[in-house]
Amino acid sequence: MNATPDSPETVNRFNIRIIGICVAAALGGFLFGFDTAVINGAVDAMTETFGLSAALQGFAVSSALLGCAAGAWFAGPIANRLGRVPVMLIAASLFLASSIGSGLAFGVVDLIVWRVIGGLGVGAASVIAPAYIAEVSPARIRGRLASLQQLAIVTGIFAALLSDSMLADFAGGSIEILWLGQEAWRWMFMAEAIPAIVYGLAALRLPESPRFLVAKGRYDEATRVLRVYTGIVDVSDRITAIKDSLRADHRWSLADLRGRRLGLKPVVWVGILLSVFQQFVGINVIFYYSTTLWRSVGFEEGDALQITVITSVTNIVVTLVAIALVDRVGRRPLLLTGSAGMFLSLTTMAIAFSQATLVTDPDGTTSAILEGGWDVTALIAANAFVVFFGVSWGPVVWVLLGEIFPNFIRAGALAVAAAAQWLANFAISTTFPTFSEIGLTFAYGFYAFFALLSFAFVFTQVPETKGRELEDMSYEVHSRRR
Ligand code: GLC
Repeated sequence: MNATPDSPETVNRFNIRIIGICVAAALGGFLFGFDTAVINGAVDAMTETFGLSAALQGFAVSSALLGCAAGAWFAGPIANRLGRVPVMLIAASLFLASSIGSGLAFGVVDLIVWRVIGGLGVGAASVIAPAYIAEVSPARIRGRLASLQQLAIVTGIFAALLSDSMLADFAGGSIEILWLGQEAWRWMFMAEAIPAIVYGLAALRLPESPRFLVAKGRYDEATRVLRVYTGIVDVSDRITAIKDSLRADHRWSLADLRGRRLGLKPVVWVGILLSVFQQFVGINVIFYYSTTLWRSVGFEEGDALQITVITSVTNIVVTLVAIALVDRVGRRPLLLTGSAGMFLSLTTMAIAFSQATLVTDPDGTTSAILEGGWDVTALIAANAFVVFFGVSWGPVVWVLLGEIFPNFIRAGALAVAAAAQWLANFAISTTFPTFSEIGLTFAYGFYAFFALLSFAFVFTQVPETKGRELEDMSYEVHSRRR
């Protein structure tokens, strides 16, 4: 078949190539999801093996998030100096080392060190996937391709929970010895070595981002990559547009958070606030502390993991809906709908928990128990919350972080915004136990308040980026105060 450059067959053929490299880059998201969720199934057995106190257990779980913040922070400068692909290779090596190291840990200290090393990988992957995908994608389908990162994250969460519960079942309880004299919880960590190797091998085959190549003056390589992946023979206009967007004689620095050089302050803060709001609506409380929630609505401890698996499947399905919508309806309508829906569902949860009865178990722990219809109400509201988040703030924040920054600051600014996201995640995850002691009504009321604020923030500050080339937005979107 003789396809002309613009015929549908040609466009499809080149789209498939681009989809292929974006899927490979998004594998970093799979490891991000897997690594953050794998601890769920391992934590109790790990605590038993090492005899951890509650405080040490909390730290063993959350320390990885600080590693994520550091990994995100350093990914920016490394991506600017060495390139986007080397960052993926570094992240894959960190994942591999961490999974084996955590699985074979002698004691809690080296376990924490290995978890932090994995966190560095997660942080780096969280920056490099959106940057790379935005930089290689055609504007028309950039939102969909960038949402693959979130699809990979939620699939990774699901895979980790599934692998945890399967390993626990094999062992007849997760503390039991499984293969090669190792306890099941150790295999939970070691299972991550497989996706880490696949990610590393996939990254080895990826082309470098043409925007990075142009920034380094490697025009011939950039031309080759653009030709192979867009099918356009004469890419000189594209190269010139990228060059122009880089010509703003400016080196990104943290001073851009304070100053108004080139009008960068607003856009960098938009990135940071998108990140912070995405976490302050409390999504990860649902994923990290699900047992507390599902016990309150009357489920046995053993069923909680299964329910969490169901919640994560819901999350995968709604991400597919977001992928279908993001380049059609745009980013802003999705975010606004998500904020409104999250506000309503979180408020419903806060009201439901105000009707709870407090019950103290024989071991001294107090749980809030819901009855008389409030249990079903909370269950529906919690799932509605996951649906509204998953169709909007989950994927769209990663899409926007990849595309709102101008070429010449993308990696640096994205790194700062992603580091802020990990710190916000850490803050919300570590405060939840205290919040729930004050009362779950307070906790969900707090998240509902941020959902409401997020609506106002998007309405007044977040630009629409649907369908525009990165270079075309550079000055208009980036320097405008909305
Ligand atoms: C987003 C968030 C991440 C969260 C996930 C859940 O990717 O960044 O923290 O775990 O959504 O769907």
